Amino acid sequence: MKKFFIQTFGCQMNVYDGWRIARMLEHRGLTQTDNVADADIIILNTCAVRAKATDKVFSALGRIRRAKKPNALFGIVGCVAREAGANAFRRIPELNFVLGPQSYHKLPEILDDPDSRLLDINLGGLEKFDSLPQLEKSPRIAYIPIQEGCNHCCTYCIVPYTRGREISRSFESVMHDTIHAAQTGAIEICFLGQNVNGYKHTDENGKLYRLSDLIRETAKIPEIMRIRFTSSYPTEMTDDLISMFATEPKLLPFLNMPIQSGSQNVLSRMNRPYTLELYCDIINKLKQARPDIQISSDFIVGFPGESDSDFDDTMKIAQKIKYINSYSFKYSPRPHTGAALMSDQIPENIKAERLAKLDAYLNEVQREFNISCIDKTLSCLLEGPDKTGKHLIYRTPYMQPCIVEYRENAPELTDIIITDANKACLRGKFKI
Ligand code: 5AD
Ligand code: SF4
Repeated sequence: MKKFFIQTFGCQMNVYDGWRIARMLEHRGLTQTDNVADADIIILNTCAVRAKATDKVFSALGRIRRAKKPNALFGIVGCVAREAGANAFRRIPELNFVLGPQSYHKLPEILDDPDSRLLDINLGGLEKFDSLPQLEKSPRIAYIPIQEGCNHCCTYCIVPYTRGREISRSFESVMHDTIHAAQTGAIEICFLGQNVNGYKHTDENGKLYRLSDLIRETAKIPEIMRIRFTSSYPTEMTDDLISMFATEPKLLPFLNMPIQSGSQNVLSRMNRPYTLELYCDIINKLKQARPDIQISSDFIVGFPGESDSDFDDTMKIAQKIKYINSYSFKYSPRPHTGAALMSDQIPENIKAERLAKLDAYLNEVQREFNISCIDKTLSCLLEGPDKTGKHLIYRTPYMQPCIVEYRENAPELTDIIITDANKACLRGKFKI
């Protein structure tokens, strides 16, 4: 029986893609292996968001080239495939396939031909969602992509190039996948999209569906107890969506809504044309709808032209909003983006200094929030045993990992009393 090896880098959308590719190959009778040297087909499912992510892929390809069986097929799918295109074959001549994020369903075309070369980095299709097999069993948390690509064109971001313009799946096909996930074991649904709250689908009768409609419909499914979505663009947090936090208790009180920078000047150079006032107003509305809501953000430091005072503004917004979980990155110039051509690039040492300062603050806020959960009872979803097998890991409504003593037949969703906390995780005990 043929074996495949797949390694996934990058965002949740990529994790989803990797998972679908694996199931597609299993469907064709292949089995998965963790050992590159044993595999007949090797797939790197790649991320291009920062230069480091792309470099990682090419160094992994160099290692794989030496370790693989001589006849094994190998190639890349995802964002680096789209970024590098035919150049990937020039850099690694033995590559067999380079398939962009919307073409990986074509992989089976070359499975039986060891001399094949396949390049497809076209965009514009939702074909992959519907041409891949359904899963027999859903994980407890089902990630359901509802749209792909992004129309916002932030000047630092390669995603509009790699994943293309926004396309939304139909309401019907998203609900079909959601119901199927619920019937096969899902308890939590996480709707995915690069610009998830930009979801818009008009059916043949002209009826417009938004993310709020998907949430309302999903909340009616008895098996589904928790709903969330990621990642949101601030100005697309429309009132219909905000009101869901007031009316749908299954919607978790946790929202990823990246601000990227706290400087008005940097935001406009990033082509993120919202004011800080508007951003804060949206957060206030969210808090009115759901007082216990907490926000997470992404930040970029060292964007071209970012002055000390611009960076101070980022520190100020972080202090104002008190994000409970954040990811911060040094700006990385990317091909096919406007900011890479800006002349006032920031030196690496300044980026590193700013990142360290911001990270130290964000980590402290995260630790404080986790500690504030001590003695509270939180409804948590089972993830599984930890590495030792002596504990179970649950996820709180804010997605913090929470460790409890192992228990046979532990409940999937249950109240846990939080007994201890640090920056990375919580500890707790079953309420009953
Ligand atoms: N450099 C650094 N970080 C970036 N991101 C996107 N593009 C870049 C870049 N060129 C970050 C943003 C985004 C997250 C997924 O990655 O913060 O929200
Ligand atoms: Fe990376 Fe962005 Fe592609 Fe996701 S969409 S894999 S974050 S480049």
